[in-house]
Amino acid sequence: MILIEKIEILPRIKLGCLPTPIESLQNFGKKFGCNNIYIKRDDLTGIGPGGNKVRSLEFILGEAVSNNCDTIIVAGPLQSNLCTLAASACAKTGLKCITVHNGVKPDRAEGNLLLNNLLNVESHYLGNISSKERNKYADELKVSLKAKGLSPYVIENGATTGMGAMGYVSAVIEMEKQVQELDIPLKSIYAPGGNGGVAAGLIYGNALLGFPFDINIISVEYDKNALISEIEKVFDQLNEILHIPFNYKTEEICNIIDDYRGEDWGVNTIESERMVHAFPQMEGIFIENIYNSKVLAGMEDLAKQSKLPEGACYLHTGGFGSLFSQY
Ligand SMILES: Cc1ncc(COP(=O)(O)O)c(C=O)c1O
Repeated sequence: MILIEKIEILPRIKLGCLPTPIESLQNFGKKFGCNNIYIKRDDLTGIGPGGNKVRSLEFILGEAVSNNCDTIIVAGPLQSNLCTLAASACAKTGLKCITVHNGVKPDRAEGNLLLNNLLNVESHYLGNISSKERNKYADELKVSLKAKGLSPYVIENGATTGMGAMGYVSAVIEMEKQVQELDIPLKSIYAPGGNGGVAAGLIYGNALLGFPFDINIISVEYDKNALISEIEKVFDQLNEILHIPFNYKTEEICNIIDDYRGEDWGVNTIESERMVHAFPQMEGIFIENIYNSKVLAGMEDLAKQSKLPEGACYLHTGGFGSLFSQY
C-alpha cells in the first residue's frame, strides 16, 4: 500500500500510546435510541494530559529532530492544549521547549498553565496582543536564539500544517485496521474542526484509503466555507509531503457541519455547556468545553432528529488540562 510506505519513510518519533481504544458509547446510544455508537479515545494518547496534538507532534518533532533542532518554540493562548502537549513531548524527547502566550501571566496557574509549571517549561507571557503579533514574536525569538548558537524550530499555525495533519492521516489507517480486527459496524466519524488540522488529516487519509468511513466535521469556530478553505490549505501541504494524486472537491468527500459552533471559538452554546456535565455523568469520561462539547452537542441534536447514523463514532480529541481552568 503506497500510502503506508510513504508514511513509513517520514521522520517521526514515537510519543503516543497507539492505537488508542475504540469503545462502545452504550449509554449515550441508549439515551438517544441509536445503535452501535462508538468513541475513539484520542483523549488517551498518553503524553501529558493527552489529546489529538500528540499524533501531530510525532511528525512535527520528528521533522525537528531530523533537522538537528534542539529547541522547540510553540505559541498559543494561555490554555493552549498544544503548548502543554508540546512541552510534555519535549520533556520525553530531551528537547528544550519555550511556550509563547498571548495573555497576562495569572497570579495562580490553573489548568494547562499549572501543568506547564510542573514541566518547568520556559514561558513567555506577552499580554493581551493578537495571535498574529504572538506568532511574529515566536518567529523573532527563533532568530534571536539562532544568533545565540541554538537550533530552534517553531511549531507553525497551532500545528495545523501538512506535517501536523499527518497524525490524522495515520489515525484513519489505524482506525480502519482496528475496525476490521474488532469486527464492529463503525461506519462514520464525528470530529471537531478548529483550525482544520484534524479534519484535513482525516478527510485526506480516508480518501486515499478508498473511503472506509464517512467523515463528519463539526466546526467549533468557522463557518463552513472558511473551514473548508483552512482544510484545503492543509491538503496542499499534504500533497507536497506525500506526492499522491488527490483531486477531490472537499464537500464531495466529507460533511462539514457548522450548525453547532455558537457565536465563536470558546463561547459555549446552552447545549455544549450542558454536555460538559451530561457526558461524564452518562459515560464516566470528561470533556472540555471548547471542542468536544460542541461535537457531542451536535451528535445529540442529530440523534434527536434521527439523523445520527448507526455506527457513528465520536472522536474524543482530549484537552483535559484546559477543563481545570474552565470551571
Ligand atoms: C482538544 C482539541 N480538540 C480539537 C482541536 C481542533 O484541532 P484542529 O485545530 O486541528 O481543527 C484542538 C486544537 O487545538 C484541541 O486542542
